[in-house]
Amino acid sequence: MEAVDEARPSQTALRVALRRAAHQLYDARPLVFDDPFAVRILGAHAEELQRTPGRNPAYKARPYSIGLRALLVARSRYAEDRLADAVAQGATQYVLLGAGLDTFAHRNPHAHLRVFEVDHPATQMWKRDLLRDNGIASPENLVYAPVDFERQSLADQLREAGFDFAAPSFFAWLGVVPYLTRETFRATIEFIAAQPKGSGVVFDYGQPREVLSPLEQLAHDSLAARVQQAGEEFRLFFTPQEIAAELRNFREIEDIGSAEINARYFADRTDALRLMGSAARIVGAWL
Ligand SMILES: C[S@@+](CC[C@H](N)C(=O)[O-])C[C@H]1O[C@@H](n2cnc3c(N)ncnc32)[C@H](O)[C@@H]1O
Repeated sequence: MEAVDEARPSQTALRVALRRAAHQLYDARPLVFDDPFAVRILGAHAEELQRTPGRNPAYKARPYSIGLRALLVARSRYAEDRLADAVAQGATQYVLLGAGLDTFAHRNPHAHLRVFEVDHPATQMWKRDLLRDNGIASPENLVYAPVDFERQSLADQLREAGFDFAAPSFFAWLGVVPYLTRETFRATIEFIAAQPKGSGVVFDYGQPREVLSPLEQLAHDSLAARVQQAGEEFRLFFTPQEIAAELRNFREIEDIGSAEINARYFADRTDALRLMGSAARIVGAWL
């Protein structure tokens, strides 16, 4: 089975965007990830969120739903925090691999940062329609590079889009790794590892089912089934030890789990928003 349907925009991209929008609408202030475009980009899809509070899983009542939303907002926040560090140290390009409905390009606070959005062509086209239909203009320093990671060369498509291979770049690869083959994962890591000093990457990954507790296995099975129903499929998992081996060509690695993520971003909250379980981890790696 294909991990991504050729002609159809990514349904998981919509689902994670709905949860980021739910964070803006329903979670206590201060938000972990403040995104003024998160609701707006969804247009009519956001009305669906507001019409069915309580019944919509992206809303707030179920602890599992809260834990998943916490992960999604934390990984976006982590990526943009690490990006800010990279820009301060000279990075001039930000590449969103599997950008989905990420709105960073429309909130970019870094004056000289070029943004490359890389995504499956069907998803990218759908996003561009949503932006246009919902009155969100395309900033000048945003470049689109349509790529099917399983069939096309990321380097070739970025070259065609005007990517500068001599400049330090920062890559965000959020919510994408589980959908890839191991070969594509390795080819992408190898590509990033070949970038100039000062470059880096942030991504998240899931641990294999067999290392999870029985309760976490249930949550894993339920999410995997829903993703598969959406026409996409989880197929790549790693342990932290395996990730360290995959990233051996990077100078520095930070690989954080729910306890560290909660301590960093969810301490002292007045609501119940926080990660649960140990399945998901977030990684930053620097050259
Ligand atoms: C769960 S969404 C995450 C989107 C976005 N990064 C976010 O955090 O909102 C997964 C994304 O990976 C992209 N993707 C998955 N497999 C892909 C492939 N083989 N080629 C290109 N994009 C792919 C999908 O199009 C989708 O945008």
